Amino acid sequence: DFEKMSITKILKTKNNKKLTMITAYDALFANLFDELADMILVGDSLNMSFAGKPDTLSATLEQMIYHANAVCAGAPKAFVILDMPFGTYTNKDIALKNAVKIYQETNIAAVKVEGGEDRADIVKHLTSNSIAVMGHIGLMPQYVRSEGGYKVRGKTKEDEEQLIRDAIAIEKAGAFAIVVEGVLSSVAKKITDAVNVPVIGIGAGNVTDGQVLVWSDMLGFFNEFKPKFVRRYLDGATLVKDAVLQYRNDVQTTQFPSKDEEY
Ligand code: KIV
Ligand code: NA
Repeated sequence: DFEKMSITKILKTKNNKKLTMITAYDALFANLFDELADMILVGDSLNMSFAGKPDTLSATLEQMIYHANAVCAGAPKAFVILDMPFGTYTNKDIALKNAVKIYQETNIAAVKVEGGEDRADIVKHLTSNSIAVMGHIGLMPQYVRSEGGYKVRGKTKEDEEQLIRDAIAIEKAGAFAIVVEGVLSSVAKKITDAVNVPVIGIGAGNVTDGQVLVWSDMLGFFNEFKPKFVRRYLDGATLVKDAVLQYRNDVQTTQFPSKDEEY
């Protein structure tokens, strides 16, 4: 029952259907997720799992465009969203210039930017220039160095009120959906009720309009750290390591290749 998503269809899911979003970084895995997930996010989390960096901040626009093209090629039916990397939307003009470059050089449907009330003017400038924007509030990984770590949000009344203001400001700026990351479930519920656009949660409980997980976390390939909110649906690392070990054993014992596998 897969239906290709559009902005209109995504908006209509509010209070009707839970949206499933997964990240993808390459054509191979994107192809596996095509027609399964409602949305595919080319997240800048790829800078950690794929590029081996400590955080997302050093991801570049060129790098993200390269991965976006790979994902779009592998998942032709998917609604693909690309994270604008750190430093590429520091003001309205820079943001629009880079978003236009992304639209011109890839087939992605929308960009995602981190930020609340403080960046609503940037989101507004993008949406009023025909760029589809997904917001991202709560725990924002691009703020990790300035915040001094990853911190769960919404623990005080002030923070809860700020997060609700953030969501409303981003909705008003024209975003078609908002990722809410690392927020107390009770607060995520209030955020979800405060806006008319779908709220996609990660580490925010089951109260949001949908969920997003990083593919390499949920499939057990990236085990450097395992946050509480990740459910591991596959032990990918063990499966891969066992297979490579078997291959090595077969090579060492000349059981590979067999007669059937030779010319
Ligand atoms: O980069 C990413 O994968 C993300 C998701 C965790 C929402 O932004
Ligand atoms: Na991201």
